[in-house]
Amino acid sequence: MKKIIIAIDGYSSSGKSTMAKELAKETGYIYIDTGAMYRAVTLYALRQGYFEGNHVNEGKLKADMPNISISFQFNPSTGKSDTFLNGENVEKEIRSMEVAKKVSLVASLSFVRKAMVAQQQAMGKEKGIVMDGRDIGTVVFPDAELKLFVTASPEVRARRRVEELLAKGEKVSYEEVLENVKERDYLDSTRKESPLRQAKDALVLDNSNMSRAEQEAWLKEKFEACVKE
Ligand code: DC
Repeated sequence: MKKIIIAIDGYSSSGKSTMAKELAKETGYIYIDTGAMYRAVTLYALRQGYFEGNHVNEGKLKADMPNISISFQFNPSTGKSDTFLNGENVEKEIRSMEVAKKVSLVASLSFVRKAMVAQQQAMGKEKGIVMDGRDIGTVVFPDAELKLFVTASPEVRARRRVEELLAKGEKVSYEEVLENVKERDYLDSTRKESPLRQAKDALVLDNSNMSRAEQEAWLKEKFEACVKE
């Protein structure tokens, strides 16, 4: 069977990473969470003290880009990949609200995107990859064989995010998370650099009222049709 590139784009907390991970597991493909890469750069900038309120010191961050190395390692105890920043496992920190509140700003910087996109393209060279993000089907892999665009209402997505964060022991309110979801939707879709857009040839999935099993079945069908072609 031919190996393909699967590009999954969509809004934050739309369930795209759950879908992408499941599909990678079923197909034996490599899964890359590109949001985690932008989150890791944000964590780096926070730790270095490069933020002043809602501004980031672009000059310092730009000069530091060659010193930021991001990688993924499979964690057998969770069955998932963990994100590493310069050799340190930062999987938990990058999912915090503190990072979530700053990441859209970092992801809007062209020098950050250029560096991340180059790394992502290198990761997909051999195909057999499922990558999720915002610009995978439009910028990173415009020739991907299978492109999906996942969406759900902001309220459904905020509820999912609250459950995720509470399960991790982070105390957050639904209102705070809903506001963050809406703000990130706005920033991600209106930014100048590679805004969140649906690729013309992407298949759209609105999973507001779908169960996980229904989504998986939908995805499996699309994947099989694509590799058979
Ligand atoms: O998928 P996520 O919520 O973990 O993504 C975190 C942020 O990174 C999100 O606000 C948008 C940005 N992002 C991006 O600009 N491009 C990508 N390919 C992936 C994520």
